[in-house]
Amino acid sequence: MNSLTPPHPADEKSVQETLFARARNAFWLAPMAGITDVCFRQLMDEMNAGVLISELVSAKGLFYNSEKTKNMMRVHPDSKSITGIQLFGESAEDIIRASELVESTGAHFVDINLGCPVKKVVKKGCGAALLRDPVYLENFLSTIKKGIRLPLTVKMRTGWSEEELTIHECVKAAYNSGCEWVAIHGRTRVQGYEGKADWKLIAEVKEKAKLPIIGNGDIRSADQARKRLEESKVDAVMIGRGALRNPGIFNECIGLNNDSSCLKIIRRYQKSLQEYYDTRFSLILLRKFSAWLAFGNPGAAKFRKNMFECITTAEVMEKVEAFFQNENPLPFDDNEEFMMSGHG
Ligand SMILES: Cc1cc2nc3c(=O)[nH]c(=O)nc-3n(C[C@H](O)[C@H](O)[C@H](O)COP(=O)(O)O)c2cc1C
Repeated sequence: MNSLTPPHPADEKSVQETLFARARNAFWLAPMAGITDVCFRQLMDEMNAGVLISELVSAKGLFYNSEKTKNMMRVHPDSKSITGIQLFGESAEDIIRASELVESTGAHFVDINLGCPVKKVVKKGCGAALLRDPVYLENFLSTIKKGIRLPLTVKMRTGWSEEELTIHECVKAAYNSGCEWVAIHGRTRVQGYEGKADWKLIAEVKEKAKLPIIGNGDIRSADQARKRLEESKVDAVMIGRGALRNPGIFNECIGLNNDSSCLKIIRRYQKSLQEYYDTRFSLILLRKFSAWLAFGNPGAAKFRKNMFECITTAEVMEKVEAFFQNENPLPFDDNEEFMMSGHG
């Protein structure tokens, strides 16, 4: 570093003081809209996910109400892992204002979504659109960093398209603006969820980066997670869809027994919902969550249809018990519909 370069916040701290050093282990839960609410995050916390992140929350949405948006940001008081709230927005000022609310939830850091490929989001210049101009991005993140008290992290894709692979520049922008780490989903915005995550590129980024890099994309088993970690030399990996098919994956990653079937996890999720939401909203979440966990299993489409016809929790649980009774681990089909959409 030359004398004109401002010191990076992480350089000024001892390793023990960095946010990254507070991760419980190197296997983290990826943010997933509609899934990583406070109840699911807490279950994954109990199953040893190293870091937890909420689904993306609109910074603007927080000012127009909304109880629902605030609910998405709740942090469980017993959580052992540090928890981040992920925000998105086109205005740094909105994000700074929203971060005050994040702070009041007890969250440990603010994560900015730079990966959402959804048209409605990128059209406004948020999510993956911010990867198109690394100079603007650095300015944007620096403004946020200066305006908030909580540590700042980012999650991004590798760029807008194959022709616009801006990942190296964007990681540098994150470093220069004082972010604590960068999580990378190894696909471009244009790719959406097609093809495979580019772990070779993630490894190249890691080699050059001056801040912790978290690799993400297509990890489906604990063996794969450990292999990715070792081969790409990233500082940690994030697991999203793999945790839906195998909720005990984080336990397996750290060498513990996985005694968590989908059935067990749905039962526990249902109990947890009762603590957090009213009956109506609990029912909506329970039906949705059960449908997510059923994806890819034989008869999932019919089960999903049945779920949305249930009007009581008891009915949902009856169908869940029958459906997941003879649960065996199934191979992943990466072309399943549910594997192909999301917000990052
Ligand atoms: C249903 C769904 C919702 C998602 N929502 C978010 C989100 O809110 N924020 C985000 O940064 N990424 C989001 N993602 C992307 C995941 O965090 C992750 O980057 C992606 O799924 C690749 O990792 P995986 O193969 O381990 O699932 C979402 C993905 C899915 C499938």
